[in-house]
Amino acid sequence: MKDFAGKVAFITGGASGAGLGQAKVFSEAGCKIAIADIRQDHLDEAKAYFKEKKVDVHTIKLDITDRKAYAAAADEVEKVFGGPPQLLFNTAGVNTFGPAEASTYEDFDWVMGVCLGGVINGMITFVPRMIKSGRPGYIATTSSLGGFMGGATTAPYSAAKAAVNNLMESYSQALKPYNIGVSVLCPGNIKSNIAEAVYTRPKGMENTGYNVTDKTINLLRSIHAQGIDPVELAQILKTAMENEQLYVLPFPNAQDMLRNLFENVIDQSSPEGAKRMEERRRKMFEEMAKNAPKDNPYRGSEDVGFAQARKDITWVKPMRMGPPPPPKKEN
Ligand SMILES: NC(=O)c1ccc[n+]([C@@H]2O[C@H](COP(=O)([O-])OP(=O)(O)OC[C@H]3O[C@@H](n4cnc5c(N)ncnc54)[C@H](O)[C@@H]3O)[C@@H](O)[C@H]2O)c1
Repeated sequence: MKDFAGKVAFITGGASGAGLGQAKVFSEAGCKIAIADIRQDHLDEAKAYFKEKKVDVHTIKLDITDRKAYAAAADEVEKVFGGPPQLLFNTAGVNTFGPAEASTYEDFDWVMGVCLGGVINGMITFVPRMIKSGRPGYIATTSSLGGFMGGATTAPYSAAKAAVNNLMESYSQALKPYNIGVSVLCPGNIKSNIAEAVYTRPKGMENTGYNVTDKTINLLRSIHAQGIDPVELAQILKTAMENEQLYVLPFPNAQDMLRNLFENVIDQSSPEGAKRMEERRRKMFEEMAKNAPKDNPYRGSEDVGFAQARKDITWVKPMRMGPPPPPKKEN
């Protein structure tokens, strides 16, 4: 898609971080913007920002896991703009960190409900409407680098994002005949408010297996403060959409990293490969420790209990940053 002028863009999570960056860049490109977000304070701030720029954006308070509310939001957009959006940005997402083995059902239900379920709801709500409108369209979903790899402390998030990558690949093939393009954006670290995601955790899903405190939230804030600027990220996404790229990989050495990751997958499917892979992993951690910058944002993470199990879960070994311990001999 080359020309965005006059097109309606619906952006979930559009009131903060990556979504707000998309709202800024695509309104600049001439889109009419609808922002949907669960946080009213974020919506108000975004509305005020655009008002000052004399840009009219339509804001909707929406929890993307609520299917009925999602359909109502789509109806509202059609009423306000005279038709369904040509551009759908599935950007809203949440995150929380802790040992996979300490996870609760609620950790999975919440993170996967928003990060995967919310994207599915977006597709089911809008794809038929976009097709029926007969106009060319584009869907850009924000996934994560985490979707390409599991992590000991990111199980629900990584699983959701891996599914999102796969889902977008399916839709990309399915929607070509309708002239609807698909991209999946897989960033590393973004300068955003995602450290506050836990504040939107719904009632009834509070039960977490992870240690989440003001200190861990503050540590996360300082990590994300070092991420890519959301406007820069949205500009990268726009260029990728102009070139109909399915995958958008806005992090350094993306291609080498993915080559390594897929090599790991292949290696782990043979006994010799598994040994090679363990060795490579160990070296990688040693290299990382040697080259860690002085202002390494993860420094101090163990002190504040970041990504650890909830205090009363005593059977979980404390997470350690750094190289994995040598493999245990079997009894
Ligand atoms: N921050 C990072 O380092 C990073 C890295 C890779 C991918 N991502 C992804 O980028 C996307 C945007 O996140 P961000 O980092 O800009 O965070 P952010 O918190 O700044 O923005 C996300 C927005 O989504 C909203 N939201 C959360 N749950 C919602 C729900 N159920 N319904 C509607 N809106 C909801 C939040 O209120 C927030 O305004 C997410 O999908 C996230 O997983 C983030």
